[in-house]
Amino acid sequence: MDIASTPSTPDADAQIADAAPAPQAPPVIRREDYQPPAWLVPQIALDFRLGIEETRVTARLSVRRNPAGSAASTLHLNGDQLTPLAVRVDGEAVNDWRMDGADLLVELTGEAHEVEIETSVNPAANSQLMGLYASNGMLCTQCEAEGFRRITFFPDRPDVLSTYSVRMAGDKGQFPILLSNGNCTATGEGEDGTHWAEWHDPWPKPAYLFALVAGDLVANHAQFTTRSGRRVDLNIWVRSGDEQRTQHAMDSLINSMKWDEEAFGREYDLDLFNVVAVSDFNMGAMENKGLNVFNTRYVLAEPETATDADYDGIESVIGHEYFHNWSGNRVTCRDWFQLSLKEGFTVLRDQLFSADMGSEAVKRIEDVRVLRAAQFPEDSGPLAHPIRPDSYQEISNFYTATVYNKGAEVIRMMRTMAGPDRFRQGTDLYFDRHDGEAATCEDFVKAIEDGAGLDLRQFRLWYAQAGTPQVAVEASHEGDVATLTLTQTIPATPGQPEKQAVPIPLRIALFDRDSGRHAGERLIVLDTDSRSFAFEGFARPPVVSINRGFSAPVAIDMERSNEDLVFLAAHDDDPFARYEAMQSLVVQHLVAAVGGGLSETARAEGRKAIGQAFAAVLSDDGLDDLMRGELMVLPGVAYLAEQVLVADPAAIHEEREGLKAWLGSELAESLVALHDRVSGVPYSRDAAARGARKTKAQALVLIAAGDPAEGARRAIAQYRAADNMTDRQSALTVLCNLEGPEREEALADFLRRYQGNALVIDKWFALQAGSFHPQVLQHIEALSQHPEFTLNNPNRARALYMTAAVNPKAFHDASGAGYRMIGELIRKLDPINPQTTARFVPQLGRWRRIEPARAAMMRAELEKIAAQPGLSRDVREQVSKSLG
Ligand code: PHE
Ligand code: ZN
Repeated sequence: MDIASTPSTPDADAQIADAAPAPQAPPVIRREDYQPPAWLVPQIALDFRLGIEETRVTARLSVRRNPAGSAASTLHLNGDQLTPLAVRVDGEAVNDWRMDGADLLVELTGEAHEVEIETSVNPAANSQLMGLYASNGMLCTQCEAEGFRRITFFPDRPDVLSTYSVRMAGDKGQFPILLSNGNCTATGEGEDGTHWAEWHDPWPKPAYLFALVAGDLVANHAQFTTRSGRRVDLNIWVRSGDEQRTQHAMDSLINSMKWDEEAFGREYDLDLFNVVAVSDFNMGAMENKGLNVFNTRYVLAEPETATDADYDGIESVIGHEYFHNWSGNRVTCRDWFQLSLKEGFTVLRDQLFSADMGSEAVKRIEDVRVLRAAQFPEDSGPLAHPIRPDSYQEISNFYTATVYNKGAEVIRMMRTMAGPDRFRQGTDLYFDRHDGEAATCEDFVKAIEDGAGLDLRQFRLWYAQAGTPQVAVEASHEGDVATLTLTQTIPATPGQPEKQAVPIPLRIALFDRDSGRHAGERLIVLDTDSRSFAFEGFARPPVVSINRGFSAPVAIDMERSNEDLVFLAAHDDDPFARYEAMQSLVVQHLVAAVGGGLSETARAEGRKAIGQAFAAVLSDDGLDDLMRGELMVLPGVAYLAEQVLVADPAAIHEEREGLKAWLGSELAESLVALHDRVSGVPYSRDAAARGARKTKAQALVLIAAGDPAEGARRAIAQYRAADNMTDRQSALTVLCNLEGPEREEALADFLRRYQGNALVIDKWFALQAGSFHPQVLQHIEALSQHPEFTLNNPNRARALYMTAAVNPKAFHDASGAGYRMIGELIRKLDPINPQTTARFVPQLGRWRRIEPARAAMMRAELEKIAAQPGLSRDVREQVSKSLG
C-alpha cells in the first residue's frame, strides 16, 4: 500500500501520452503587482429605471485623486459587456473617453470631479447570475467578486470604498418591494403605475457589497435590540407562500446577532437588516451590507420539507453572512488575494457559532469531514493554492475549500496556540485597528500577534504555502520514558517545489494502558522538520492520542495496532479523537484491502476489529445518539482515495460497500434493535430527537447493506410513516440503491407529494443521482430529459450533476460514461453560467491520481473541453491548470 506523500509523480504523468496542447491562457493577475488606485470614489449616486428586459442605470461618481496612488490623470473604470450611453464630467458631455477592451478610460484634468455615466442592461438575458439579473420575475444583484462592472462602469476593486445613495423606480405592480443597502430615506409614486424609493448606506463600502432587489415579496418581520440599545428591524423577504418556512432562518439571525456581541464584541451598525431569498443563485449567500441575498436553500425550512442537515446549513450560513458585517464589511479586503481574510475568518466564526448553538463535538467532526472530502483533494491536485494565492486568472475560481475551510483552520490554530481569551484580544485589536479599511491577511496576523502576544513569524508560512503537511509519528519506549518523534513533510504543489517547515500545534494525550487514563492533555508545537518529545512515567508504551480536536489541518501518518485504535475509539475522552480512531481503523483496513495487501485472514481480522469498535458504539449508553450516528459514518471514497498515490475509486467503493455489508450482517441484531428504538422517538427539533434520526439513518444503511430485503422492508415502512423530511429522505436514500417495487413507489410518491416545491424536487434529483444502483448512469441520463430538469437553475443543475460527479459509482464507471457525461455538461453549461460550470472541472482534474485506464479517459474529456471554442475564462483557467 502506498501512503500518498506527493500529489503526483512523473510516472503517473508518463502513463498518458501528450495530446492536444493546453488552451490559450487568459492574463494572469499577480498579488505582487498590487498598486493602490490612482483615483478614489468617496461617493456614488445610482439611479435605476427598472425593467426585466431593460434597466437603465445612471451612475454619478464623485472622484478625487488618491494621494497614495500614482499621479495618473486617467480614470480607469471597469466594465463587462457594457456600452457607455453617455459620459459627462462635471455636468458636461465629454468626448475625452475611450474604451480599453471592456473598460472605460476617462481623461481628467483636476484633483476632483463628478463623472456621470449612463448604461443599460438586460437582466432577463443575464444567465450568468452576475450583476443585475431576473429570477422568477424579480430583479436582484450579485456583485462579488466582479459583478458590479456588469451594471455600470466603476473602479471595481475592493480597496475603493464609497458611500452609496440609490434611487430606483419601476412598475408598482411588478416590483412592489424596492430594496437596497442601508436605510430607506424616501419613497413616492410616479406616473403610469410606477413608484420609487431612495436608499442611503452611511457606511463606505466596496462595490462588491452593493445590492438591489425589486420584486413581489413578503417579509417575516422581527426586531432585535443590540446591547447598546439600538433597535434593529429584521426582515426575511420571500415569495408569497414561503413565509411560514422562514422562522428557523429568523431565529438563526437573532441568535447570530446576540452571539457576535458575546463571543466577539461585535454589534450591528444599522437600524435595518434585510435578507432576501432568491431561487437562482450561484453560491450559498451573499453578505451585501444590510441586504444579504440568499439562495432559497439556506432560508426556507419546515420539518416536512427540510432535513436536520438543511436546518444546520441555514443556521451556519445565516450566521456566516451576518458575521461578515464585521469580518468583511466593516473591515474589508484590500484586493482579492486577501479573500481568506474575510472568508477564512468568517468560516471560523460561523463554526464557533454553530458549535455553541448545538454540539461542539459533532460540529467539529462535520467540519473536519468537509475539509477532508473537499479541501485535502484540492490541496493535492493541479489546482492547489495557498490560502492567500499568489496569482489568478479568474477570481471566481478562488472561492475554494482552501480559501474558506483551510483558511478557517489556519486561524483556528492561532486561537489554539493563544487560547480563546488572548485570541479575543487579538481580534478586538484587529477590528479596532482596521475598522473602515481594506486590509490584508498580513494586517490580520499582525493584529493577532500584537493583541494575543504570539510570535507568528514562522506561522505566516501557512498563508504562503499550499499542500497538506504530513506528520509522521514514531513512538518508542525505554525504561519509563515514552518518546514521540515527529517529522513533517509538505508535498510539492504547482509552482512550489520546495517547502519550509511550518509550526504545527498538536494537542496530545498519552493513555496509560492499565488505568485507561491519561495525565492531562498537552499542546506540543512541531516547528522544525523533525523533533522528538519525551514523556516520563510510563512503565509500558502508552496509547497515543494525537491531533485531538483536529488541532492542526495535517495528515497524521502513524502505524497503529488495531488494538490501540479500538481502545481509543471506546475510551478517548476527546470526542473528536474517538471519531478519529474509528476512522483510522477503517481507513487502514480499507486502504490495505484495496491495495491487495491483505490475506483473507488479515481481512477477517481487520473486519473483526472494526466490528468490535462498531458494536461498542452501538451499545455505549454513555454516547448520545447524535454522536453515535456520527461515529457510524464510514470514511468517504474521496478521502480514502486520497490515501493512495494512484487510486482505483471503483475498487475502493466496492471494498467499502463490502465492509458495510459485512457490518450489516455481523451486527444485524443490534442494528435492528437500535433502528427500532430510535424509530420510536417522536419528531422534535431537540438534540435527542435529531440524534435519533441520525442514528436511524445510519442503522438503516447498514441493515440494508447486510440484508437488502430487510432493508427494503424497513425503508419503505420508514418512508410511509415519516412525518419529517429527515426520515423520509434517509429512507428514500436506501431505497434508491435497491431494486424492486418499493423504489419506484417511493420515488413516484415523493415527486407527486412535493410538486411545485423546487428545493424538494432538487432532492428528488439528487437522491437518484447519488445512488449506488447498478443503472445509476441510465437514471441520470433519463433525469436530464425530465420536464422538471433545467440547466438554467444552478440548484437544479447541481442536484443532478454535482451529485453525480461526486458519486464514485456514477462518475468513475469503468466505461468512462460518467466522465463523458460531466465533460458534456461542462461544454453545455459554460455558455449559460461559467461560474457554476467551472466548479465541475476539478472532478476531472483529479486524473493524475486515478488508475491509468480511467485517467486517460478523464484527461481526454479535459482535452475535449479545452478544444471547445469560446470557452469562458473560468473554465479555461481550471481546464488548462488541470492539463498543465
Ligand atoms: N461572499 C459570499 C460568502 O461567503 C460568497 C459568494 C461569493 C457569493 C461570490 C456570491 C458570489 O459568504
Ligand atoms: Zn463568506
